[in-house]
Amino acid sequence: MSLLTRRRLLRRAALSATAAGAARAGLTGAAAAGIAATAATAGCDDTPETGTDSADAGRGAVRFPTGFGWGAATSAYQIEGAAKEDGRGESVWDTFSHTPGRTRNGDTGDVAADHYHRYAADLDLMRDLGLRSYRFSISWPRIQADGTGKPNQRGLDFYRRLVDGLHERGIAPMATLFHWDLPQALQDDGGWENRDTADRFGDYAEAVFHALGDRVPVWLTINEPKTVVQNGYIWGHHAPGRQDPDAAYLVAHHLQLAHGLAVQALRAGGTKVRIGPALNLHPCYPADDTAEAAAATRLHDGYENRLYLDSILKGAYPQDVLADLGADSRMAKGIRDGDLKIISSPVDLLAVQYYTPLYVTAQRDTVSKWPTSEAEWQQIYPDGMYDILTRVTRDYGRIPITITENGLPCPDTLAADGTVNDQGRIDFLRDHFAAAHRAIRDGVPLESYHVWSLLDNFEWAEGYEQRWGLVYVDYPSQRRVLKRSAHWYRDVIRKNGL
Ligand code: FCB
Repeated sequence: MSLLTRRRLLRRAALSATAAGAARAGLTGAAAAGIAATAATAGCDDTPETGTDSADAGRGAVRFPTGFGWGAATSAYQIEGAAKEDGRGESVWDTFSHTPGRTRNGDTGDVAADHYHRYAADLDLMRDLGLRSYRFSISWPRIQADGTGKPNQRGLDFYRRLVDGLHERGIAPMATLFHWDLPQALQDDGGWENRDTADRFGDYAEAVFHALGDRVPVWLTINEPKTVVQNGYIWGHHAPGRQDPDAAYLVAHHLQLAHGLAVQALRAGGTKVRIGPALNLHPCYPADDTAEAAAATRLHDGYENRLYLDSILKGAYPQDVLADLGADSRMAKGIRDGDLKIISSPVDLLAVQYYTPLYVTAQRDTVSKWPTSEAEWQQIYPDGMYDILTRVTRDYGRIPITITENGLPCPDTLAADGTVNDQGRIDFLRDHFAAAHRAIRDGVPLESYHVWSLLDNFEWAEGYEQRWGLVYVDYPSQRRVLKRSAHWYRDVIRKNGL
């Protein structure tokens, strides 16, 4: 790894250790210099000034292709609760959230939105919203408490009931195999630094496909490998809480390998259902018009996007990133003959998660240009959605795309009249839907869109403070209340457009 990269990563780790919440996209708000002067925090009650061409939305004539898959997304640890039930083992997130000082207010996912017990009512909510697709994740430690061996039937049965309930309501299930809740027992053996974990993941995937494969038309392998790499191993804000850039990129390789092994396991089972990766992509733009910023942006894009896209869709890691990491990096030394062939096993679709753009300086710091949300790492820039979608199609061909996450946290409160007015979320979604629509118009084969999130939930290191749901969860009573955005979204789905 080049000295500059190492210094930059460690400087960022040091900065973010003191900047609560700046954990996600690595925004170094303090480094925002001149550009930051234009940034502000967007309230959720008013319409923020955003960089978007929302002319489409304004005309009120935005119609999506027939059968477009309007959906919502969740993940197991963030909503299920029931942390000790039916044979579930511990995950790295149980350990992390129970470690003092790791999450806001010491929050854990022990109960979360209690979805494990309330899934039937949640399915009815989804039906009432008119959802056509629901993206959820399967908790590895519910299926294999220690990450290996015979699958736990009670864990499989829960997901079978969920999937059956979706079919009964005419909602297409979309399941993610891994949304960060690695069995703690595997972490104790080295976690994703240990190549064996990728093999264990292949076995776990095979067991899940055997039990549920045909009932789930779309499978996603690993949710946001980059977030595990950056937040889990560089900045340390997520489980397992490490700050070791050299280990981080070995982890990246093993996550990619695990993805490929899961794809192969699905194919070996002979089912006809589809599978793909779920990548959070960040369009990267130079912070100014110097040649140095342009060069830094190019390399930054390699770390943010091409490391994952090129290996899966082109069968090679980007040369500039490999050169920057260096031949003696743990990642470079961990790549074996044949690995890229496994990683690039053909996929059927690409799941894109878009939240924010990144603006890169000559020194490879990232700075803010647009208003940020309650999540400081998120700049509100709908055109970034258009840019990343059209770029993927341009650079990687017409692989079908699903958006598996996009959304906004708002300081939602339940008013005395029982409503939750989240106009800011409506504005945000309208502008992003319009950007996605423009991308479709310009040739992007986008087939579905999942809002993050169906329910308010455990937002990792931020605990329960940030509310991302279309549906408000009153945690003490676990009552669900449709926010205004949920009513609005139901209309969008009904009209198939804006
Ligand atoms: C994504 C995660 C998801 C949620 C949203 C806000 O990076 O995949 O679990 O935390 O961010």
